[in-house]
Amino acid sequence: MIIAQIADTHLVAANAADPMYGARTENLRVCIADINSLDPRPDAVIHTGDMTQHGQAAEFAHARSLLDALEMPLYLTPGNRDGRAGMARAFESDGFMPPNCIFIHYAVETHSVRLVAVDSLADDGSAKGDFCEARLAALDDTLAEAPDKPTALFLHHPPFDVPSAPDPFAYQRRQAAADLAAVVFRYPQVVRIFTGHMHRPCAATVGGVAASTVPSVAVDRRYGHYTPTMAGRPVYQVHRFDGRWGFSSETRLVGIGTDIS
Ligand SMILES: [Fe+2]
Repeated sequence: MIIAQIADTHLVAANAADPMYGARTENLRVCIADINSLDPRPDAVIHTGDMTQHGQAAEFAHARSLLDALEMPLYLTPGNRDGRAGMARAFESDGFMPPNCIFIHYAVETHSVRLVAVDSLADDGSAKGDFCEARLAALDDTLAEAPDKPTALFLHHPPFDVPSAPDPFAYQRRQAAADLAAVVFRYPQVVRIFTGHMHRPCAATVGGVAASTVPSVAVDRRYGHYTPTMAGRPVYQVHRFDGRWGFSSETRLVGIGTDIS
């Protein structure tokens, strides 16, 4: 199975006078074109949150109009910028989210790797993540349903320290990340954890499982140290699954920019 991962697109609603509108639209558009051009083509795309800048309906409508160009299924998880309600309204007609969901938690069963969306939003609207007992229990139940199928979790907030970030830990409580790791540890079929939020690449181990963050698609929100050839060019990641060694990951640098050949 091949998964393309995009995150932190931070789209704003149509406004020709707002430079963020044009730039972030183009950042996502070139990623989508590149994903569609891959051979072999990804089986699915995951968006690990902060799809929008303010969680407004017009922003989700704009996101939807762009993402509809993807030639493979898109699955998503909310970022702190998105909130749950607006994202659910914009995408629940796709059928993978439970209707009237309290949390955006679901499993996708139609691929060779089972995908489980985990909702890491804090209930108080904070930028930092959190889990409650209900969500951890739901994850536990979901993972118990299919113990023999390779499974990848995807969520917005990385449950590990990202040392290069000014605030390396993305959760309100240390215990939240420890609780998630404890659930993951009980299910050896979990082979990978994909996250966003930090706008920079980082990898770690959570409950014995490889976990990673992806740089933001929105170039103006990308943090960390990058080569000059990446200036102005959005990135996303491609994760290829092999039953022998799990996922291998590639960072794709796309768009018009300095020739790096
Ligand atoms: Fe975020």
